[in-house]
Amino acid sequence: MQRETHTMKIVIVGHVDHGKSTLVGRLIHDTGSLPDGKLEAIKAMSERRGMPFEWAFLMDAIQAERDQGITIDTTQIFFKTEKRPYIIIDAPGHKEFLKNMVTGAASSEAALLLIDAAEGVQEQSRRHGYLLSLLGVGQVAVLVNKMDLVGYSAERFGTVAEEYRAYLASLGVEPTCFIPISAREGDNIVRHSPHMPWYQGPGVVQALDGFTPAARPALRPLRMPVQDVYKFDQRRIIAGRIESGSLEVGDEVIFSPSNKTATIRSIESWNAGDAPQGARAGQSIGVTLTEQIFVERGDVMSHLENPPMESSVFRARIFWLGRKPLEIGKPYTIKFNTTEAVATVEAIEHVIDTQDLSTRPAERIERNGAGEVVIRTRRLLALDEAETDPATGRFVVVEDYLPVGGGLISMEGYPDQRELITVRSTNITAVGHAVTGEARIARNGHRGGVLWFTGLSGAGKSTLALALEHELFTKGYQVYVLDGDNVRTGLNANLGFTPEDRAENIRRVGEVAALFADAGFLVISSFISPYRSDRERARQAAREAFHEIYIQASLEACEARDPKGLYKRARSGEIPDFTGISSPYEPPETADLVVPTDELPEEECLAELIRYVDRSFRR
Ligand code: ADX
Repeated sequence: MQRETHTMKIVIVGHVDHGKSTLVGRLIHDTGSLPDGKLEAIKAMSERRGMPFEWAFLMDAIQAERDQGITIDTTQIFFKTEKRPYIIIDAPGHKEFLKNMVTGAASSEAALLLIDAAEGVQEQSRRHGYLLSLLGVGQVAVLVNKMDLVGYSAERFGTVAEEYRAYLASLGVEPTCFIPISAREGDNIVRHSPHMPWYQGPGVVQALDGFTPAARPALRPLRMPVQDVYKFDQRRIIAGRIESGSLEVGDEVIFSPSNKTATIRSIESWNAGDAPQGARAGQSIGVTLTEQIFVERGDVMSHLENPPMESSVFRARIFWLGRKPLEIGKPYTIKFNTTEAVATVEAIEHVIDTQDLSTRPAERIERNGAGEVVIRTRRLLALDEAETDPATGRFVVVEDYLPVGGGLISMEGYPDQRELITVRSTNITAVGHAVTGEARIARNGHRGGVLWFTGLSGAGKSTLALALEHELFTKGYQVYVLDGDNVRTGLNANLGFTPEDRAENIRRVGEVAALFADAGFLVISSFISPYRSDRERARQAAREAFHEIYIQASLEACEARDPKGLYKRARSGEIPDFTGISSPYEPPETADLVVPTDELPEEECLAELIRYVDRSFRR
């Protein structure tokens, strides 16, 4: 076997009573990682005190030595197998553990999850599983401990493993293996246990050695957050630290979020000597570009392939340290890479009790609490997800110049907006129509415009849109409905319901609606259009002709109506990414008109709409 020099960081998650310390003691001892005489000393000590020896004493002893005089949140325990060295990152409690993981003080590459064969899958084990899914630790071995207490029963192991496997699957965690062990007796730790001939899989150490080390930063996509731009004679040198990936002279790069591309002309190093031709993760460098583009501090340089995502809204797992609680709607400064942005927490999905890891809904996150939130910023940011880019996927929250929290970024349910703002068409000249807007208005007797209906599926958008179209047509309006059913079968037939597809759906509809409006038509567009930023772009396309109309009904009301039976199918898991159930809906903040269909009868909603149109568009 080839020895690796990389020290793999692992966490052991599990309840103390499930044998965590015993397992650690065993791992250190059985892998021969203990200093000579240590075990004997501890055995002698327990004898003197008249206590039967426990493997857990070993960990206590190691911890006590290391803790002397300093209070630290994390203890690090080392051991070595034939394959490579390991560090076990441990924390005295869940609170410290979460804090360390979220703030990046301790991130691990793999986890051992302990459960108790005798107790089976209990609330505690569920929460530990949840913790791993929360932190996105991908490689997990589940150890079913205390097999000696259940007579090394294959059947018992099978039952516990199956139950836990199903639970973890519901969280999206897929363990590498389940191993029946007895930490106390040393079964299946280093060697195969003679007590469980029915088990053919790996032991704990084999499982650990089978884990893949996290991809070295240099092998991941290029990220260089720009620290500064210096002007030397005519040259402009863009300086920063390469957080991941590598680059070479001649590479084409893109700066985000400004979305500008250029080619690397040279790499400047601070040391004398020949100018380097390449640079990689961990190095602080300066580059010059062949094109003169405007780049500023905070931009992220990447290759054209695998750039960061761009969004003004994202999810985060936050650990809060502020004296004042984190509150919805309050502006905070978030700092990440070399940039900062004003951000508000739009929603707290739930908070996590750091004592018992249970989750519950809440309006605020108190000091030392953790939670999952949705964050919105005013401008587009270049973002990475913590799961794929540990170095750039996290941020710090600042209030009154003090760090008050840390978070991990996730884009689940939200689209990457880069494609939507990327312009590829070139050499285009504006069309000068020979028919003026005024002439169109004079002929039609009304202005053109966009009535942008937004709302949940089942809120009544299509029903009202079609009724309104009919009424307005009768009254002499040039009017046409754009609806999922006539757009998604043709123009947008190639789009599904992923966040990116929805965003593209709305981008196209927004542009088409703007053209219709320009042609003098009144367009009623009836789409869920769940994302605020997409509706904002549709507004920019049609400018002052755009009217946002919120067809409002509560999720409960829509689900009770369920005209197409889709909610039922979404609840059963048959339809993924269903708006309101498993995909977000962001209601308008400042709609031009709100039509509450769960409060007013249909005729009244319609009458309200007709009045609004006559008022806004009649010549
Ligand atoms: S949008 O989100 O991209 O604006 P759009 O309004 O075009 O959606 O289409 C919504 C209609 O598609 C719904 O009324 C429903 O009939 C159907 N539909 C199919 N799958 C989904 C889904 N996953 N989420 C929401 N609606 C869906």
